[in-house]
Amino acid sequence: MNVLVVGAGYVGLVTAACLAESGNRVVGVDQDPARVALLQAGGIPIYEPGLDELVVRNQHAGRLSFSTSLAQAIADADVIFIAVGTPPMEDGSADLQHVLAVAEQIGHHLTDFKVVVNKSTVPVGTAADVHATILARLQARGLAEQAFVVVSNPEFLKEGAAIEDFMRPDRIVIGVPDTPLGERARQVMTRLYQPFNRHHDRTVWMDVVSAELTKYAANAMLATRISFMNEMALLADQLGADVDCVRRGMGSDQRIGHSFLYAGTGYGGSCFPKDTRALVHTAAHRGVRMRVVEAVEAVNARQKDTLVQLVTGTFGSDLRGVRLAVWGLAFKPNTNDMREAPSRHIMAALYRLGATLCAYDPVAVTEARAALSTDLGHSPTEMGQRVSFADNPMQALAGADALLVVTEWKCFHNPDFPAMAQCMRHRIVLDGRNLYEPLVMQEAGLAYQGIGRRNALGRQVVGAGPQALRTVRHPASAPAHGVAQGVDTAVPTS
Ligand SMILES: NC(=O)c1ccc[n+]([C@@H]2O[C@H](COP(=O)([O-])OP(=O)(O)OC[C@H]3O[C@@H](n4cnc5c(N)ncnc54)[C@H](O)[C@@H]3O)[C@@H](O)[C@H]2O)c1
Repeated sequence: MNVLVVGAGYVGLVTAACLAESGNRVVGVDQDPARVALLQAGGIPIYEPGLDELVVRNQHAGRLSFSTSLAQAIADADVIFIAVGTPPMEDGSADLQHVLAVAEQIGHHLTDFKVVVNKSTVPVGTAADVHATILARLQARGLAEQAFVVVSNPEFLKEGAAIEDFMRPDRIVIGVPDTPLGERARQVMTRLYQPFNRHHDRTVWMDVVSAELTKYAANAMLATRISFMNEMALLADQLGADVDCVRRGMGSDQRIGHSFLYAGTGYGGSCFPKDTRALVHTAAHRGVRMRVVEAVEAVNARQKDTLVQLVTGTFGSDLRGVRLAVWGLAFKPNTNDMREAPSRHIMAALYRLGATLCAYDPVAVTEARAALSTDLGHSPTEMGQRVSFADNPMQALAGADALLVVTEWKCFHNPDFPAMAQCMRHRIVLDGRNLYEPLVMQEAGLAYQGIGRRNALGRQVVGAGPQALRTVRHPASAPAHGVAQGVDTAVPTS
């Protein structure tokens, strides 16, 4: 089959490469000439494990090519995927300008039957808008009778595991119109996805509107689980319970399951924040208040401040002279995506309070530098005096007053705790991803605070206030117990 994928980002590029791998002739079109030139030269503009190999292999096999030009690609295609970005607008609604610009182009160049597939995450009703936009262009060209169908095929891939998710999806949701043309589209989509359904049929067929809503419902549910656990962690801290025990106890109930029950620094990324906001906006437009999803967002906004509050609770709110190490910048492991990454909020807040920051991330440093510079309105050179990026995790820790763990990259899972303790100025670990065991840390002589972990030392760090500030800033004049007064482990200085 001839496939056109418009948009060569995380979703478009993975879709194009996987559909080429399954034997189709695929053209990926993007409006960004630099991105296309890089792809044509065998480079990959994003970090996604395994994607480079897949793209290059299919390019060499002649099944995958890239272009900036839509005209020829539209003429040749049987199926056209729209996989462009739908970023949030000020009011929380999804910005559909890119999707509708592609629809305009399709209407401008279409000459025979096409199945147009909305792969982008778009609000309910967008397939109808895309249909209307294409039809308007066709009418203007005197081709009002030209047949085409718009279907909804939302994408559920996870960055970092995108190829596996596309190749072996839990389900393939496809919404088609209940019309003879819809039936024709269903046959085309059945053929296209047949290689992914060989083991068993994973396709869930439905009407277009339900397919559009399914994507938002799925993301809102996952975001809800995260915010639910973050709220539980807050309570666990107050009660002296360990949210990780609670997670394991809850998750083993088959009705609940273990996924997305991790307390942390809040969710980020290109999907959950914008999709929950867009869902609230869509609902409000129809007179429905999404109270649960609103609360999920509010909890998440508060959660992103947790590490900042742990820092100010320990060092006070004037952080001048305080050196903080940050492990992990990408919004989650195995991606370089910095969109709405919690690290941005955390680092910007700490920087504004005067802290000096040294961060390490295995792949997202270039993107993080640019994102932080935009967030702070400072050039990288201005920032350079107080924000630096290390070549490895231990380098970031050198002379640090505290370590903040923000992204749970594998390389942070089992570090050399004694070596860490040795190279820090104050041995404080604020673990925003609950990677470490409080007792192990205590034994290693590190003052430790996770999110909702039972941890006497941690509770003291949280509530330590001005005394801790004096303690950490002027360790020589501080009481012997350091930051964590009244507990056994002497904390800070190395
Ligand atoms: N990233 C994810 O994990 C993920 C998962 C599921 C769904 N989605 C959804 O998929 C859509 C795409 O997301 P993404 O992360 O791939 O975005 P992205 O920003 O990585 O990529 C979008 C690409 O579209 C290109 N583009 C924009 N307008 C264009 C036009 N008119 N013609 C040609 N190219 C154009 C951009 O240059 C960019 O390369 C969004 O709606 C998103 O919500 C994303």
